[in-house]
Amino acid sequence: MKDELQYDNDNEISNPTDNRPFEDILQANLGRRKVLMGGMGLAAASFVAAPSLANAGRRHWPEQKPLIGFTPVAVEDGSGAMPSISADYEYDVMIPWGEPLEPSGPAFSWPPKAADQAKQIGIGHDGMAYFPIDQKEWELFGNKFNRGNKHRRGNRHGMLAINHEFGGNNHVLGKSSPESLEEVRTSQHAHGVSIVEIRQGRNKWRQVESKNARRIHVNTPVTFSGPAAGHALLQTTAGNIPLGTVNNCASGATPWGTYLTCEENFNGYFGATNKEQTWSPTESHNRYGFSRGGFGYGWEKFDARFDLSNPDYRNEENRFGWVVEIDPFDATQTPVKRTALGRVKHEGATSVIGQNGRAVVYMGDDQRFDYIYKFVSADHYKKMLAAGKSPLDEGVLYVARFNEDGSGDWLPLTLDNADLAARFADMGELLVNTRIAADIVGATPMDRPEWTTVAPNGDVYCTLTNNSRRTEANAANPFTPNPDGHIIRWHDADEHTGTTFKWDIFLIAETTHGTEESFASPDGLWADPDGRLFIQTDGGQKDGLNNQMLVADTTTGKLSRLLTGVYGDEITGIAVTPDRCTMFINTQHPGNGDPSVTNFPAPQDGVTVPRDCTIVITKKDGGIIGS
Ligand code: FEO
Ligand code: CA
Ligand code: CA
Repeated sequence: MKDELQYDNDNEISNPTDNRPFEDILQANLGRRKVLMGGMGLAAASFVAAPSLANAGRRHWPEQKPLIGFTPVAVEDGSGAMPSISADYEYDVMIPWGEPLEPSGPAFSWPPKAADQAKQIGIGHDGMAYFPIDQKEWELFGNKFNRGNKHRRGNRHGMLAINHEFGGNNHVLGKSSPESLEEVRTSQHAHGVSIVEIRQGRNKWRQVESKNARRIHVNTPVTFSGPAAGHALLQTTAGNIPLGTVNNCASGATPWGTYLTCEENFNGYFGATNKEQTWSPTESHNRYGFSRGGFGYGWEKFDARFDLSNPDYRNEENRFGWVVEIDPFDATQTPVKRTALGRVKHEGATSVIGQNGRAVVYMGDDQRFDYIYKFVSADHYKKMLAAGKSPLDEGVLYVARFNEDGSGDWLPLTLDNADLAARFADMGELLVNTRIAADIVGATPMDRPEWTTVAPNGDVYCTLTNNSRRTEANAANPFTPNPDGHIIRWHDADEHTGTTFKWDIFLIAETTHGTEESFASPDGLWADPDGRLFIQTDGGQKDGLNNQMLVADTTTGKLSRLLTGVYGDEITGIAVTPDRCTMFINTQHPGNGDPSVTNFPAPQDGVTVPRDCTIVITKKDGGIIGS
């Protein structure tokens, strides 16, 4: 069965501005592309991979030879109904969609009942983070993942927070459109986040009973904080309390041990029945891509909260598009939507501790011609926490402008800017309309910013997954069109807190086709402490490959394929134990839900519906993943 819901709905263009700062210097861009293609001293390499920005002329990564030594998956092995992994590695699967959250919960049945689905793992596995069971270990090691801590309990026992981005109606319900509120609830409960306690026993990781395990879905009470909290634009006439999170794509973990889940294509879950009155879109609706039919989920037919034409629920749509903070160790905590981080189609939220202990969060807005953002907290994160404040509630949100000469500027989105003060009455209104504010200040329109990751040397990498509709180049997005994507890299002044940066293009996907390093549409991304960059893909791969995970050496540019997924799936999500000897990744929508394509993770029998699940990767020699 071919699902009517497309997985690429984030592809539509909703940036109407002409923020094309370089359109008049196309020739200069073409010249720059030549420099990028040939000027980085890696003529022998089959792709562009420039030496680290921060390391130029300085010491290299900690010594470890070879950085990437595993046998890669060959092209001819990368297209099957089951995953392929390097001969030096092995994998297991856990927490498939519909599995009980805790062993005592309701068993999987298809299609699931709404009440059961609320106690089962959701679908559309995406971003995730692993938190060692002993929170002190998080404080000790955080996301530094130092070696030398192999015997700690947290390497075998922890909380896994995992996003459930997407679930097509045919896959979840066995029909293209819901026919009752019960079916809408099933679909809603399949989305959101799972917090699950997992433990390694006899080498296999499994979920265990847990006081901290919980499901957060579209009907879970949530709260708002930061400048837009309490704003009229977040109130409905119906007076319903804020509920839920949806289309949870990539993620992040804070230095203080909480999980950040990011709401991406929230617009697609709203529609207009035009029963109460005729809906016509506002400027804000258009900028965020709302439409009468949405993506075809049909929730608005039975749940008025998602009916754009119901005046009682006007502004309900403004309650989505945020970064949501969740405590993975407290099932009673109400998830908090941190409005200071802006309202966009948030792909991920990557935290790092910047100068003077300030918390910095990098974020992509995944749509063609949309932008890259960062947030810098007002003060040292520990000082703010000690004062009872969240570091994510007070600070400055910036949007990126990439200049042609390899420099860049972070443009503050504050009312100190006269143009923004003229457009918005207050910060609440600005943040609800973050995209419009970013248009006004002249941010650089990018080729669909997906994940960001910060390498230990301070370089920040971001996947620009593709943009088949780009006709005007800019220096940072030089391909017209850009069907295969690239990875950009920058280095901020003042340890992530400055307003300027230097950037270059690290890797161009199109140049790898026809080689053993072939990949396209980079999406998931994680820089490990040794200088490896894990790259996951989501999109049609060349050379007959399924979606995949590769590992790049950021110093030499070497690229090796660690794993390929299942036909029709997306490989996404990266979490590791502190010793980095176990890695968790996800296969999302294997076979696009079609059992005649794959039954994964079940054995191939041609009848079992394929289920999104987490793939647990270990190295046969017990080594660090990626080595
Ligand atoms: Fe949910 Fe942009 O990937
Ligand atoms: Ca993604
Ligand atoms: Ca994607």
